[in-house]
Amino acid sequence: MIEGSHHTSPQKFAGSLNHAMISGPQGDAAQHYANNFGTPGFDDITKAYIEQRYEGYTVENQETWKVLFDRQMEFLQDNASQTYLSGAKIINLQRECVPPLVDINARLFPLTKWQSRAVPGYLPARAFFACLARREFPTTIVIRPKESIDYLPQPDIFHDIFGHVPLHADPIFADFLQTYGQAALTANDPVETERLSRLFWFTVEFGLIRESGRVKVYGSGLISSPGESRHSLSSDKVERRPFNLDHVCDTGFEIDHFQPIYYVLESFEQLRDAMNTYSQRLLAKARARAAA
Ligand SMILES: [Fe+2]
Repeated sequence: MIEGSHHTSPQKFAGSLNHAMISGPQGDAAQHYANNFGTPGFDDITKAYIEQRYEGYTVENQETWKVLFDRQMEFLQDNASQTYLSGAKIINLQRECVPPLVDINARLFPLTKWQSRAVPGYLPARAFFACLARREFPTTIVIRPKESIDYLPQPDIFHDIFGHVPLHADPIFADFLQTYGQAALTANDPVETERLSRLFWFTVEFGLIRESGRVKVYGSGLISSPGESRHSLSSDKVERRPFNLDHVCDTGFEIDHFQPIYYVLESFEQLRDAMNTYSQRLLAKARARAAA
C-alpha cells in the first residue's frame, strides 16, 4: 500500500471503467483532500470519503462481479483460510450483485467496529494509514472493465471487498490491522515506512496460513486472483517461508508478476502479537525522538 504497492499506486484505470462512479465534484474534492492529508488544514480523513452511488453500476458491471465471484469462490472453499470463509459468510458476500457498502457495514460494524468507506482512487500512504487507524477500510468502488477481467494491477471493488473485507470480521485480524495503521502513522521515518510496506505486502496482500496441517491463502491479492492463488499453493518454483516479522520486513518485493516468496503464518494470533511488539518498538523510538 505504500510506494509500489497497489493501494497507493498512482496509476490510472485503463479501459472503459465506469468513471462516472468516482469523478465529478464530490470525487474531485475528496481526492484533493486525500492528496493533501496531513498538511495544515487537512486533518479530517473522513473528508476523503465519497458515497457509493449504487445506481451507477451498469448491467455489465454486475455481470463482471458474478463471473469473478463464481470463478474464485469454488476454488477458495478448499484453499482459503477458514477465517476468510467464515468472514465472507458473516458479511453476507453474495454472487448476485456488487455489494452495497451499507449492507456490508451493517453486518461488520456490530462485530468488530470495522467499516468500509468508499474513496475516489489512489490514497497517499499517510491518508491510507489514517483510515486503518480508525478501523475504516478505504474501498475502491469501481469494478474492472470486462476486457481486464483476468488481471488489473490496481485494486477495484472485487479486490477490496471480496479480497480484503471478510478478514475484517475476525476480531484478531481486525485488531492487527488497526494497530498496523496506528504504528505506521507514528513511524514517520522512510526506513520504517519501507519495512511496514513489506509487512503489509507479505501478510495482508499475499499472506498464506497453515490450518489443520495444510497451507491456505488469506492475502487479498491471492484471494482475488485466480492465477496467483493457485500459483502460491501449488508451484514448485515458489518459496514458502515460515512467518517471522523481522525477516518479512527485511524482504523486498516485486510487483507486476507472481511472487517468488510467500510467508506462512501459524495463526492470526501470531501476526497480531508480532505487530503489537513492533508497534511498541516504534512508539519507543518516537518517544526517544521527541525527547531528543
Ligand atoms: Fe489490497
